[in-house]
Amino acid sequence: MEQNRGSWGSNLGFLLAAIGSAVGLGNIWGFPYKMGKSGGFTFLLIYLLLAVFVGFIIMMGELSLGRKTGKGTVGAYHTMSKKFKWIGWLAVFSPFVIMSFYSVLGGYCIEYMSLNLSNLAFAGAEIKTGSDLFGAMLTNPFGCVMFTLLFLLICYLINRGGVSGGIEKFNKVGMPALFVMLVIIIIRSLTLPGAMEGLKFMFVPGYAVKAGFIAEAPKFATVLATAGGQMFFSLSLAMGAMITYGSYLSKQEDLVKNSAIIVVADTIVATMAGIAVIPAAVANGIQNGIPLNEIALGGPSLLFVTLQDVFQAMGTVGPLFGVIFYLLVLIAAISSAISLIEVVVTYFMDRAAEKGKEGNRPKVVLLVCLAIMVEAALVAVDGLGSNGIWVPGQASFGIQGWNDCWLDFMDMMSEGIAMPLGALLMSLMVGWEIKPKSLLDEIHQGSNARIDGFFSFCMKFIVPLGMLLILVGQIDTFFSLGIF
Ligand code: PFF
Repeated sequence: MEQNRGSWGSNLGFLLAAIGSAVGLGNIWGFPYKMGKSGGFTFLLIYLLLAVFVGFIIMMGELSLGRKTGKGTVGAYHTMSKKFKWIGWLAVFSPFVIMSFYSVLGGYCIEYMSLNLSNLAFAGAEIKTGSDLFGAMLTNPFGCVMFTLLFLLICYLINRGGVSGGIEKFNKVGMPALFVMLVIIIIRSLTLPGAMEGLKFMFVPGYAVKAGFIAEAPKFATVLATAGGQMFFSLSLAMGAMITYGSYLSKQEDLVKNSAIIVVADTIVATMAGIAVIPAAVANGIQNGIPLNEIALGGPSLLFVTLQDVFQAMGTVGPLFGVIFYLLVLIAAISSAISLIEVVVTYFMDRAAEKGKEGNRPKVVLLVCLAIMVEAALVAVDGLGSNGIWVPGQASFGIQGWNDCWLDFMDMMSEGIAMPLGALLMSLMVGWEIKPKSLLDEIHQGSNARIDGFFSFCMKFIVPLGMLLILVGQIDTFFSLGIF
């Protein structure tokens, strides 16, 4: 059965796929802005501490859980635990829900890439501002559904090829390409007049308040919760992705080294993404006399309004940088999306194998993508709340804080609740029920790093505490409860 499941072609292939899963929209529109707003280098330091004591530990835990059981997330939890076996379902639910908006955002990237391509081809034609374009796109539900469909079609074709024949192949080309494009955009961004202000916003502690980007500095507890939430979304943790990818990994590979490389690479790319986008966005804002606190430096508006304006202000070469940039973001989105899809696909493939049948991968991938398309259509038609469709939000239930749009609702359910809850329960299971030693035995196949004491201590105490804090922080943010 082990052989039928397939496996990675090489450790490098696995690493690029895992880094591809980690590097996504979260790195580009979440990390830089949160870092700037929350104290620059101080935030980076807190982020790194959390990444080492919580992220790195869960990463090793998930990879070893997958490799030990040789099963996807539901199978892995069922095999290992009596009390916590249902957590596996949480880790299939979250990726499925995240895909409802991740694929719509991927569709936006394709649309913006094509738009810049046509600007390149028809240079000199009348050009609209970023906010006009974004507004027009959101209020065209049919177009958004079509581009979402196109994004899912690309993912379908990759996942259909299997772990080594599809996912690994894509990332082996996609990740180096992404890196090169990122460097090109960084060079362009840093040579724009006024770019230094953006760099200072990102790195200098307290500069965001001093220069007037934001009114007041967030509290320490808020910074901690923000860094934690960002860290585990960015590392693709608590979503079954790393359990699934680990289940296809050979026993002789070093899980300690691999986990460290994934964490470090993801953080480097997030920082690089910040250096690519923030200075350009700030420089352009300053040149156009926009007050610093009014420049959108995070979320969909950063990508689809602020940066589009940056490219348009660059003259004839602008659309070329636009094409490169949106292609880069698209690759980052695809490489994350295929890992989310694979979590669900592997569950069905394993279930077929348990029944002694050979799962039909193309059919399973097709059905999973179609199911995602149904929920994604809702998010696409909603257009971030632009089209007045019913949303289970503030107006409907009187729940304060989260905007009335389907994307936020889906994000709240997955990133806000299911992910931190899943990670908290996972650490309790490993730390207190099955005991860290059961995973350390697996980790030591392929690695003789002396991490036993550190791993056990973190898994038992630091991770549960950290995850509890993050869970409360996420609920606080999503519902604006004002706890922190
Ligand atoms: N890590 C991705 C990002 O930063 O955008 C998002 C993600 C992908 C989360 C895959 C979880 C996952 F399993």
